[in-house]
Amino acid sequence: MSCSGYSKYNPEAKKREKINPLAQIYPPLPKNKYDIIYADPPWDYGGKMQYDKSCIKNLNVNFEKNIFISAANFKYPTLKLNELKNLAVQSITAEDCILFMWTTGPQFAKAIELGLSWGFEYKTVAFVWDKKIHNPGRYTLSQTEFVLAFKKGRFPEPRGARNIKQLVSVYRGEHSEKPEKVIEGITLMFPTQRKIELFARKKYLGWDNWGLEIPDNKIKISSPKDIDDAKNSNTQILLTFE
Ligand SMILES: C[S@@+](CC[C@H](N)C(=O)[O-])C[C@H]1O[C@@H](n2cnc3c(N)ncnc32)[C@H](O)[C@@H]1O
Repeated sequence: MSCSGYSKYNPEAKKREKINPLAQIYPPLPKNKYDIIYADPPWDYGGKMQYDKSCIKNLNVNFEKNIFISAANFKYPTLKLNELKNLAVQSITAEDCILFMWTTGPQFAKAIELGLSWGFEYKTVAFVWDKKIHNPGRYTLSQTEFVLAFKKGRFPEPRGARNIKQLVSVYRGEHSEKPEKVIEGITLMFPTQRKIELFARKKYLGWDNWGLEIPDNKIKISSPKDIDDAKNSNTQILLTFE
């Protein structure tokens, strides 16, 4: 009997797929309006396998290395573009608002379509994350992810830091975990604005958070002054900014 990779992969994939535990597709959004929205949507890759080092370490024990890799929907429930468009982001958008949205190369076009459907204008690539290690890729070896900037109305005032760099070079961590330098940079750019992270897995002081996996403990984002103070008083800081 012949044995294809997929005949092994498909039943295993079914077992590992994460299902949204809610009766509704989304938890309720807050009633507030926000000047800054930072979103990392759980993009649907249509069951496509992805290279995932953490999976190879932890989950592939006794499973053929060359057949089974991983997929986003083994880590958390994923959402199709139409489902993401149905999230009522307009209800939490202030008149003047910037939306920062994570995307990958394959999801770039969908991310722009999503930002437009939430009522924003596409502006630029605000951050490029260089993960410093490449993954396999069909075209070139893939090593970057992107944070797109969208705007509605005018730039939220007052502006904070104007020297935040677009390129963030930080080794990748666990699957889907984004470098904290990005939220830190956005916080410094917009220190006084009302801010929310959508599809969050961490909780930052000064930010509201929304998603399926919000923990209890909060992380403080350090300003350059906090870092100096911490160095002088031997205090451990959670986030740093150079
Ligand atoms: C790409 S991950 C976010 C990773 C995060 N930015 C980090 O750095 O760790 C997407 C998140 O969206 C959450 N999610 C999936 N479906 C959701 C839904 N229907 N409503 C709210 N959150 C959802 C997932 O559980 C996951 O935590």
